[in-house]
Amino acid sequence: MTPIEEVIINRKTNTKPIWVMRQAGRYLPEFREIRKNNTDFIKLCLNPSLSTEITIQPLKRFDLDAAIIFSDILMLPYGLNQKVEFKKGIGPILGTLDLNSISKLEEIDFVSKMKPVYDLINLVKNHDLTKDKSTIGFVGAPWTLLVYMINQKSPKDGLKNNFFKNDYLIKKTLSIIQIFLKVHIKNQIKSGAHIIQIFDSWAGLLDEKDYANYIYTPTADLVEYIKSFNIPVICFPKGIKKYKEYCDIVRPNTICIDYEVDPKKIIQDIKIPVQGGMDPKILLTDQENLKKQATKYLDIFKDHPYIFNLGHGILPETDPKMMDYLVKIVKDY
Ligand code: CP3
Repeated sequence: MTPIEEVIINRKTNTKPIWVMRQAGRYLPEFREIRKNNTDFIKLCLNPSLSTEITIQPLKRFDLDAAIIFSDILMLPYGLNQKVEFKKGIGPILGTLDLNSISKLEEIDFVSKMKPVYDLINLVKNHDLTKDKSTIGFVGAPWTLLVYMINQKSPKDGLKNNFFKNDYLIKKTLSIIQIFLKVHIKNQIKSGAHIIQIFDSWAGLLDEKDYANYIYTPTADLVEYIKSFNIPVICFPKGIKKYKEYCDIVRPNTICIDYEVDPKKIIQDIKIPVQGGMDPKILLTDQENLKKQATKYLDIFKDHPYIFNLGHGILPETDPKMMDYLVKIVKDY
């Protein structure tokens, strides 16, 4: 069993494994080098040998306990034949959603389009540098994918005014997302993913009265589905106001917390293993502060099953030396 599985499955508290969201990414010069020559992000995700290399890059530098596959939550709308582009300085831009066409999509066509992602997982799982480490597959949560597919871009400045206007479109899209998320999860597991993380990056956009319909019900269904394969699931409902209620209803094996959550409150409320929390901006400060802040999380979770991670993805402007120092702090604790 890998250290992360020891924490998640056996609830061990005497080991504090570490991995970092977006650990393979733009803060690494070797990633930027590959990216420079591969301007089409989706194509890069669909190149198993390059995406394996990118997945492994952080493991060559740092003593991390997991490899998270280099892919994107927006590979799902791409697989559903919605156009997805990543524009420099803007972020993802999606084409119009054609309900008619996505309603007719067959599983086998989706799987054949996504096959390079599954090949990548197989290559990562069998790579020399992932021995004794967890290979983490992932998906976007139904709500967060719905947001991107309907909004067609990041909702960082809010959702379109008419977002909820077409009830039929919302319900139908959500039900198709749910079907194909299961297909995508099943194939990631079949290809060797040891753990699945569900990213609900935009959970914080909803009013609490809408949590049940858009977050709890569809996510709990996916969690149950993943558990039916005997594979653990980590949920990251970023920005949600009710972490305890979320855990009680959705029932993930591990809950990943964001940097706005008070870890001391979490430890009182939540009995399942916890992951993450530290603000990624701490890595932009100095070593002394980094040590203080990382140690704060390690102290709070000393007697609780805990996987060290950040409270959101590592920032592109992070100095890899700070990441190196962070991994050492956690390993030496
Ligand atoms: O964690 C990892 O190292 C694995 C790879 C990974 C990526 N995206 C690669 C990526 C993972 C797990 C994701 C998840 C993802 N993608 C989320 C959920 C987590 C979160 O950050 O909230 C979301 C919302 C997306 C959608 C997405 N992809 C956005 C909004 C962007 C553009 C914004 C940005 O950071 O540039 C991406 C692009 C993306 N996905 C990059 C990487 C390394 C940057 C691509 C580049 O320009 O080089």
